[in-house]
Amino acid sequence: MRISVIGLGYLGATHAVAMAKLGHQVVGVEPDSKKLASLKAGNLPFYEPGLDEALQQELSSGRLTLVSSPGPEIAACDIHFICVGTPQLAGSDEADLTYVMAAGTELASHLRPDSVVVGKSTVPVGTAAKLRTTMSEVAGFDVRLAWNPEFLREGTALEDSLAPDRIVIGAWSQDDAKELRRVYQPLLDNGVPCLVMDVATSELVKVAANSFLATKISFINAMAEVAEASGADTVRLAEAIGMDDRIGSKFLRNGLGFGGGCLPKDIRGFMARARELGVGESIEFLRQVDQVNLRRRDRVVELAQTELGSVEHKIVLVLGISFKPDSDDLRDSPALDVAKRLAGLGAQVRVHDPEALEALEGRHPQLERADDLEAGFRNADLVILGTEWSEYKAIEPKAFGDLVANKLIIDGRNVLDVAAWQAAGWRLIALGRNVHN
Ligand code: UGA
Repeated sequence: MRISVIGLGYLGATHAVAMAKLGHQVVGVEPDSKKLASLKAGNLPFYEPGLDEALQQELSSGRLTLVSSPGPEIAACDIHFICVGTPQLAGSDEADLTYVMAAGTELASHLRPDSVVVGKSTVPVGTAAKLRTTMSEVAGFDVRLAWNPEFLREGTALEDSLAPDRIVIGAWSQDDAKELRRVYQPLLDNGVPCLVMDVATSELVKVAANSFLATKISFINAMAEVAEASGADTVRLAEAIGMDDRIGSKFLRNGLGFGGGCLPKDIRGFMARARELGVGESIEFLRQVDQVNLRRRDRVVELAQTELGSVEHKIVLVLGISFKPDSDDLRDSPALDVAKRLAGLGAQVRVHDPEALEALEGRHPQLERADDLEAGFRNADLVILGTEWSEYKAIEPKAFGDLVANKLIIDGRNVLDVAAWQAAGWRLIALGRNVHN
């Protein structure tokens, strides 16, 4: 099929490559000239394992072409995916829908009446209906619009796109849903379940899923607060409750909490939309989810202060600044937040990250960049593991001990081998655990 993908950020770039891999003829649209040039050269403007190679393959196969704005190539397409961002509106909980509405409006003037437009962006429930009205006014006919939320995770984006747990299609007409099923036929043939539903429900599925995941993480972090006050151990607790099939062990890792460009803004946007609908109270608990999450960052800052007396002029090494491993995304990163706050309290903060230092370029000059682990550890008064890159999990505890006078480490993600670090003479503090020596 001939497919266009509007917006080549995380979601769009992955989706465009995935569609080409399925054998479709894909035109990607990215108005940002720098991003477009980089993509055309086969380089992603962000780090995502395996996606660079797949992008290069699809560009050279001729199945993927990239343009800066909708034109005749777009008019020739049968299906158009809108993949632009919906960030949090500054100074508000609400999602900013400017990009979705602008992309839809621009696309509308290039549409054939028989083509189907598909929204993939995460939007407040009710957005698709508004978009359909606006696009139909511009196009001069009833635009066929469907919704198809995406559940990919950074770090495993392409795998998640090609082997999702489920495909969700929100449609006003069975014909539109059928067209979309044709797009995904190879995945359906592989047994991926496909749920066709009304459009409002499909919009809700995405924010409900992210809200549930955020709630699960904050639940275990709330348990960590109780464990810290009572001498219990959250990691053992999670192991025990997670073995109950009804609870499940995934997303029960306590630590510095969730960040990134999705979970935090999605729960806030959801609360704002529920208030607009007059049912704010129904999901007001998400406010607590947000607050528990942010308190974990406070906890690490407080621990640093308590352990060091004052952090002023102390050297603190933060290992990992991306919001999760295998990503260089710094949006709402818990580790970066802690690093900035400690620097704000007068600490001399060094940051190390296998991939994200480039993304930090030109920003936060108060943070020193450690080019390698040895430079980072040298004379550090405190080490904080902020993001659980495998490189950090593999650190041999004896390796850098001689470089520091004060062997003190806070494991913000509960991934270090406590006994090994302690045996190597380190004082290790693990969030929500009673393992401190
Ligand atoms: C999340 C969802 O998992 C995806 O399904 C969704 O498609 C995506 O948002 C989106 O809306 O686009 P992502 O933000 O890439 O994906 O990352 P997650 O793997 O969900 O992790 C989010 C945060 O939670 C990270 O900061 C991670 O460190 C933290 N986390 C995760 C925990 O603190 N504990 C856990 O047990 C799991």
